[in-house]
Amino acid sequence: MTPSELHSLLQDGHPGALRLLSPLGHRAAMPLGIPQQAEQARGALRKATIGQITDGAGKPLALPSLVRYFSGFPDTSSLLYASQYGLLSLRQAWARQMALPDGTPASLPVVASGITHGIALCADLFTGPDVPVVVATPYWDNYDQIFTMRTGAPLLTYPFFGPDRRFNVAGLAATLARLDGPAMVLLNFPSNPTGYSPYPDEVQALVRLLSAHPHPLCIVCDDAYNGLFFDPALYGKSLYGALAAAVDKARALVCKVDGATKELVFFGGRIGFLTFSADGAAGQALAEKAAAVLRGTVSSVCTPSQAAVLGALSSATLSEERAAVLRVLDERYRALRESLAANGLDALPFNSGCFALLPLAEGQNAEAARQRLLKEQSVGVIAVPRANALRIAFCSIEAADIPDLVSRVVAGLV
Ligand SMILES: Cc1ncc(COP(=O)(O)O)c(C=O)c1O
Repeated sequence: MTPSELHSLLQDGHPGALRLLSPLGHRAAMPLGIPQQAEQARGALRKATIGQITDGAGKPLALPSLVRYFSGFPDTSSLLYASQYGLLSLRQAWARQMALPDGTPASLPVVASGITHGIALCADLFTGPDVPVVVATPYWDNYDQIFTMRTGAPLLTYPFFGPDRRFNVAGLAATLARLDGPAMVLLNFPSNPTGYSPYPDEVQALVRLLSAHPHPLCIVCDDAYNGLFFDPALYGKSLYGALAAAVDKARALVCKVDGATKELVFFGGRIGFLTFSADGAAGQALAEKAAAVLRGTVSSVCTPSQAAVLGALSSATLSEERAAVLRVLDERYRALRESLAANGLDALPFNSGCFALLPLAEGQNAEAARQRLLKEQSVGVIAVPRANALRIAFCSIEAADIPDLVSRVVAGLV
């Protein structure tokens, strides 16, 4: 479609999204280019469209030395290009596994090349130097590259924790109150680097606050660590559903970015998903804008990875396998809590995800402490200078080794 055709669909179905588009977002549209013309010729007798080397009947002229690594796939079609939107059956399967309550506004997810890429698509479509991104600090450090470096969007930060050591809804409210134009709010739960997720009352307050914001607002839920919840009292799911149901579509849009990276322990597979809180034609228009930007950057997402995720999603044992991983992480989480307490170390509150954040005493420097731990204790952690803290990835240490890790940290910090 042309940009103006897409915009009239947005104006009719989700005007807030139209108000939020960046200049690139305005220009983004899928022309009737090679992939679309090839798709239209799918049923033709002689298909001389796309530059794929095939047997003349639609299958790739696959090299046996390569294709033997994909022996679990039903055929060789995963060696061909996928659509810019991703494999339709994968998009549908991921939408089903999100298990959103009936009636939640949601486009079909667009497949991205990992979660970073999904967030970068949001950055491209909705931000720029004049559109601030409101985010709690400390935050995942790659947001600096995704937003400030790439699109020039300034990050407007507020402290992650309030004085009560819970999520700082009041800090977010005070930051939002300073805005008078379009903005993005980035929410990342379970959080990297704090390992914190909200409890139901915090979610209620967040939804109330964000849905009452008077200016155009794009809310992005970075759900990278979705599902890794260890405290049964937590809200325990993505905030997307509650936000998408609550916001006014004349003013706001919610984007959910998630993926197979952590949820299916498929880090190198590079499969992420981007879902918009717009139904029907407006949702398709936004998906087309995302796919157009994707076509102009990575062209299309790795088909074998998409096929593997699709296969996994239909496996009868997948939920059992995921539960087993969650049990392992839960054990590590509990071992870390116990070891920290036994050693009198006070991490910031953590209840989910992969990390705990250990603030350093005044006078200690995070980067110097990290280097000392590495050199003197053979311990690798991540320095988080913004919080003058060390991030411990308990997800990658066996539970039995966690007491040793913590005693090394203690020895290295004295
Ligand atoms: C908060 C957060 N978002 C997104 C990502 C990126 O995920 P991916 O590897 O799929 O790009 C990470 C990975 O570390 C992360 O911590």
